[in-house]
Formats: sequence, structure tokens, C-alpha cells
Amino acid sequence: MRSATTLAATGALVASVAQAQVVQWDIVKRQTAPNTLTRRQANTFTEVITNEKLRGGYFATCSVGTPAQNLTLQLDTGSSDIWVPSSSASVCEQASDDGCTFGSFDSSKSTSFTVVGEDAFSISYVDGSSSTGDYITDTFQIGGATLDNMTMGLGRKTDIPYGLVGVGYALNEAIVASTQSTSESYDNLPVLMQKQGLINTNAYSLWLNDLDANTGSILFGGIDTEKYKGDLSRIDIYQDASSQAYTSFTVAMTSLQAVSSSGADTLSSSAFPIPVVLDSGTTFSYLPTDLAEQVWQEVGAEYYSNYGVPLIPCEMENSAGHFSFGFGGSGGPVINITMDELVVSLADGDPYTFPSGQYKGQAACQFGLQNFSSSTYLLGDTFLRSAYVVYDLVNNQIGLAPTDFNATDSNVVAFPSEGAQIPSATAAPNQAEVTQSSSLSSPTYGASGGFKDDASDEESAAAMLPPAFDWSRIVVVGVSMSCMLVGSGFFLL
Ligand SMILES: *[C@@H]1O[C@H](CO)[C@@H](O)[C@H](O)[C@H]1NC(C)=O
Ligand SMILES: *[C@@H]1O[C@H](CO)[C@@H](O)[C@H](O)[C@H]1NC(C)=O
Ligand SMILES: *[C@@H]1O[C@H](CO)[C@@H](O)[C@H](O)[C@H]1NC(C)=O
Ligand SMILES: *[C@@H]1O[C@H](CO)[C@@H](O)[C@H](O)[C@H]1NC(C)=O
Ligand SMILES: *[C@@H]1O[C@H](CO)[C@@H](O)[C@H](O)[C@H]1NC(C)=O
Repeated sequence: MRSATTLAATGALVASVAQAQVVQWDIVKRQTAPNTLTRRQANTFTEVITNEKLRGGYFATCSVGTPAQNLTLQLDTGSSDIWVPSSSASVCEQASDDGCTFGSFDSSKSTSFTVVGEDAFSISYVDGSSSTGDYITDTFQIGGATLDNMTMGLGRKTDIPYGLVGVGYALNEAIVASTQSTSESYDNLPVLMQKQGLINTNAYSLWLNDLDANTGSILFGGIDTEKYKGDLSRIDIYQDASSQAYTSFTVAMTSLQAVSSSGADTLSSSAFPIPVVLDSGTTFSYLPTDLAEQVWQEVGAEYYSNYGVPLIPCEMENSAGHFSFGFGGSGGPVINITMDELVVSLADGDPYTFPSGQYKGQAACQFGLQNFSSSTYLLGDTFLRSAYVVYDLVNNQIGLAPTDFNATDSNVVAFPSEGAQIPSATAAPNQAEVTQSSSLSSPTYGASGGFKDDASDEESAAAMLPPAFDWSRIVVVGVSMSCMLVGSGFFLL
């Protein structure tokens, strides 16, 4: 997340376009081999994205240049530029490390490469990482679709060994922030896809699938009615308060319930309705501290201040309890997040144990709902996996429904035209009544016992003691947060 920048204008981001089509890009977990580009059926395009469980993010293979150079890039709804690491960047040349195993771009080998902004590209992330270099144009291929003359960043100096595909609002491009000028904004990926006639409107759907599953997908220009349960509900995206422009996918989270076999607790926060950004580039989810503390108490997670993370016994993934996230006021969409989506391994392979305290000797996992001090909070992959999310950047609306995990059927419905509403979705009925009126009151924690009882019903492999907890690894596991312009005080709008 970049520091907030003031934008001065709004902008019509989208131009008129040709025929109704969709482009699907499948995403795959990093541990598996990246899938290849495949074209599934006439007028639709498919690619596979990978779920990178630990460092966060969903990856897919794209290609850049002529002849095409393959790169595996992270999909990010929280930023708006495509950028690729340059082969000459020192992070890619480091022999000691793995270098850029996801691929890097050698501009000298591309005949279609043009520099359009020397030293004009500069992006930095809240975790301290950054990438700087040139803005370039070149051929970009995604999901079997080819975009000529795609504007991208070329990371000549970066500490991130892989590139990103940012699909957010064009006004959130790094160039707009660094020049403080909205007129510098260019046609980013979804805008260009529309202009080149691959899709009808600037909208896409994201299906991340289960924590344990390997693939999800992003479908540009359409929805897949077989990938969610029930009906899609539409809620409004909020403008950035200072710029009065749409720059991030900020929506109003209006309730949170903890539900287990022993009861249901309505949790409270002085921050309700909470402005939350739906951000696929962030691994965990970040709630206001007053709310996060209630969540941790419900499930028995312990906050470790030395490392700034809540930890939880790994066996809690067997808990049958869940959290119900409500959006857009009463009657709005509700997304249930079960405990198996919230208990995240600290590292591949080896488990770690709690060194002391009530869980001494038990395997430790990271808890997926963390806390953050900010006026804008983030719902990252630990939330997004349980939701089917449609991003409509023309009507500035989000469509939400509970995901259908591991769905294998497909029924793709394209947006019929530019500016068309999200197909099959109905508007949340009481959004207008969403006002800041909440106060903090402690729940009774009636649900708390049920979370733990359910988990301990399962036999845990206590006999097989894992190695001692390696605290140094926690920091490494860390969090990748995406680049965003953060608004504040959206209630004023
Ligand atoms: C890039 O990926 C495509 C599709 O998987 C493959 O056919 C091609 O050989 C790859 N190119 C290189 C240079 O690895
Ligand atoms: C490619 O994009 C650049 C910068 O936007 C523009 O100057 C150039 O005319 C474009 N070329 C083609 C072939 O569209
Ligand atoms: C989805 O599939 C994965 C294996 O690919 C499995 O581990 C997981 O339990 C499945 N999830 C659900 C909710 O069925
Ligand atoms: C979500 O949980 C609530 C209880 O909090 C339940 O009433 C509802 O049916 C659940 N929804 C789904 C889709 O499972
Ligand atoms: C998160 O919560 C802990 C424990 O309540 C608190 O000490 C810490 O300051 C909070 N962190 C942030 C970033 O708000």
C-alpha cells in the first residue's frame, strides 16, 4: 500500500467497444507447475492461475515480447500496472538465491519492445518492497489473448523476483501517483482488453477456490454461474474520499458473526461500517483491532507482539465453526468463512510448535484474520477464497456470492455490452441505510466453546512431535500487501 496521494480529478476510463466476448485466465498455486495457455472454446480464453499459499497471491503464466518470453506473474486487484522484472535486475542475476525463477524479461531480445517513459515507472509496497524502471510497451499475451502495444513497467531495480498483473482502476496506476496527474493514466489491462474488442465492458470475476485446491480463475468480461452458490448480490464500491474518484475496490463491511455448535455471537467494532478493500494481492485479511481481538478470543488465537501476528494451533483447521461477513447493510450479501480457510501453515512441509503458554508443544499455524491500524482495512485471500467476486469497474459495483469450492462445471455469461449491469445479480436492498452508527460492546463469547470442541473432536497426531518453533521463520513468512491508494473517511461521501 503506497502512502495516500491526492488525486484531483475523475476520469472516464472506458471507451466504446466491439463484440461480446470473455477472456478467462486460470490461476494456479505456486507449488504446482504453472499451467499453460489454453484456448478452451470459441470467443473465450483460458489461462491458469496459481495459488501461492505462503507468500500470498495467485500466479499465472503470461508472455511478453516478440518472440514471446514466458513469465509467471502475480494477479493483483489492489494495483493497476503490469510490471515485469528485467533480466538485468540484480535480483534476477543473484546466483546465491534462486534468482527470478518465475521468469524475467530480456528487452534486448524483443523486436516489438519500445520504451515510452524512461525511469518513469516506480511502485512501492507497504511491506517495503519496490520496483523502479521504465514504462515500456510490448506485446502481452494472457489466457490465449494477445494485446499489442500493452503499457507495462520494466523493473530494472527491484527486490521482488517476480512481476505483477495489476487489474485495478486505471487511476490507481503508479504513474498517476508519481506525477500527481490523472491525465498520465494509460489504458491498463482490462481497459485495453475492452478497447481491443476482447471483452464488452471493463469487468471481471475472480474465483480463487479452496485453500487446498490448486487452481482458480479470473474471467474477464463475464461471470461463471456454476462457480458460486445462491445469487449474486450487488454492492457499491466507494470513492476515495480525498480525490472523489474510484481508485480501489473499497466496499462497506456491515456485520460479522462468529458461529459454532455452541452458539452465534454478533461481534462489534467502533469502525462499523468498515471500509474494506477486496485485494487479491494480499495474503491475509486485516480488520480493526477491536474486532480482530474478539475474533481471536472466539477461536483461541494468540497474538504474538514480537512478530505482529496471531497464531493458532493447526488442529483448529478441523473446527466446524465459521465467521459470517455481511456487506452493504441488512439483506446484503453474506460470506461464510470456515476455519479450514483461516488456519494457514507457516511454511511448506515442517510444522512448528508453540514454545510456551497454553499451546506449548502443539503445532502452530498463522491465523488468517489479522489486525491493522488504518482507516481502510483489507480482505485478502483468506477471505476472497470463500467468495465469488465480480468487479464491475464501469458501474463501480461488486457482485458477491458464496463460492462453490472445487466446482467443475462452467456456464460463462458475458456482460452483453459496455456498462451493462452484472448478469444475474440483484442489488443489496438496504445500502442507502448504511451509516456510521456502531458502538463497541463485548460479545458473550457463546460461540467460543464450540469452535474448540469441534476441533478437538478430531484426533491430532500428538505423538509425532514437530520440531521446535523457529521464530525467525515467522518474519520471513510475512505478508505481501499490494499497492493501493488508501482513502479515508468514506462515510462522508
Ligand atoms: C512458453 O509457453 C508456451 C506455452 O506453454 C510454450 O509452448 C513455449 O514453448 C514456451 N516458450 C518458452 C520460450 O519457454
Ligand atoms: C503504442 O503505444 C504508444 C504509447 O501509448 C503509442 O505512442 C503508439 O502509437 C502505439 N503504437 C501502436 C502501433 O499502437
Ligand atoms: C477441494 O479440493 C481439494 C483437493 O484438490 C481438497 O483438498 C479440498 O478439501 C476440496 N475442498 C472442498 C471444500 O471440497
Ligand atoms: C452462513 O452462515 C449462516 C449462519 O451464520 C447461515 O444461516 C447461512 O445459511 C450460511 N450460508 C451459507 C451459504 O452457508
Ligand atoms: C494488533 O493487536 C495487538 C493486540 O491487541 C496490538 O498490540 C497491536 O498494536 C495491533 N496492531 C496493529 C497494527 O494495530
